[in-house]
Amino acid sequence: MIHFLNLKKINQPFEVAFQNKMKQFLEEGWYILGNEVKQFETNFAHYCGTKHCIGVGNGLDALILIFKAYIQLGKLQKGDEVIVPANTYIASILAVLQADLVPVLVEPRLETYNINPNEIEAKITSKTKAILPVHLYGQLCEMDAINEIAKKHNLLIIEDAAQAHGARFSVQCSVESVQSNADCHTELVSVSQHPSSFTQHPKAYSFYPGKNLGALGDAGAITTNDDELAEVLYQLRNYGSKVKYENEIIGVNSRLDELQASFLNIKLKHLEAENDFRRSVAKQYLSEIKNDKITLPSWDLSKNHVFHLFVIRTSNRTELKNYLYENGIETMIHYPIPPHKQNALSDWNTLSFPITEKIHDEVLSIPLNSALKTSEVDHIITILNKY
Ligand SMILES: Cc1ncc(COP(=O)(O)O)c(C=O)c1O
Repeated sequence: MIHFLNLKKINQPFEVAFQNKMKQFLEEGWYILGNEVKQFETNFAHYCGTKHCIGVGNGLDALILIFKAYIQLGKLQKGDEVIVPANTYIASILAVLQADLVPVLVEPRLETYNINPNEIEAKITSKTKAILPVHLYGQLCEMDAINEIAKKHNLLIIEDAAQAHGARFSVQCSVESVQSNADCHTELVSVSQHPSSFTQHPKAYSFYPGKNLGALGDAGAITTNDDELAEVLYQLRNYGSKVKYENEIIGVNSRLDELQASFLNIKLKHLEAENDFRRSVAKQYLSEIKNDKITLPSWDLSKNHVFHLFVIRTSNRTELKNYLYENGIETMIHYPIPPHKQNALSDWNTLSFPITEKIHDEVLSIPLNSALKTSEVDHIITILNKY
């Protein structure tokens, strides 16, 4: 069976390094906000080309804390509206709700699954204060168009990059940075030094185990270039405190764990090479899967996509899923029920987002991860083409 995601296999190359770290960890006896978290924050900020990285408990908290920090700074107020994609994992929407803000859903493009910038302006009201683009499945949203809209209407942008570690606007990369990325699997490289507006917005990352950069438990981070925002975020994640037992603001407990940070420090060195590997498999899928019953996404293979997932569409998903399983291929559905149809959001259940609903009815994720063998990729393509 070709598993959709075999985390044991994915983490096997790092096992010895993990065990050595664990030994050091037990010897040192420092568990919360220590050197490993500091080191990871430095490493990940450098990798993303941002000034600050704030390690937090998970990706959902990363999003909530950004919103709360903007409220703390007076840049958002409770009840403000935030534009969010209707087609996303529910966490994006929950974050808006949990910060006492109002999510306003916008349809995606069927071809890319990401928010359609052409649909945003119709949803803007006097209460709209921010846009939350979600870089779904690892592909950056159309940020040029979104930036334009935000500028015109004076809106904040907060990016949900939970699935997009390492994605960047390749067209805006300098030749030198593209060349230096060629061998970056052995050393960390700063990937976003170009003056792209992309790096200006705060971004929320999740290091949930199955992500491109996955911890061995829950973990998350926020990156930002904004000193003032970073200052508030460092406090918010730690009881609103900078100095122990002195609480400046009302905070939460959402700190990146020292042990998870140590694992992430080990894995971050390999992220760029793993993303390149994912891109090469995606390239093969996009060029070699040929079947009228299967619609491939219209994705480009630039560095603006890190292929967290490879998501195809078909009108009879259950049949295709079963067929693949019978042929030794495990698949998953990201996601089977759109947020507005979830029981948890019952007020929205009667709303209609036809493109989002079509996507949720038809999508199927086929295996794409760093442990996949060439023979397995070939087998998946052969079986799909025979369907
Ligand atoms: C798009 C998106 N946003 C936010 C999150 C939340 O991250 P976490 O599970 O680490 O809280 C996820 C996680 O799966 C996600 O896929």
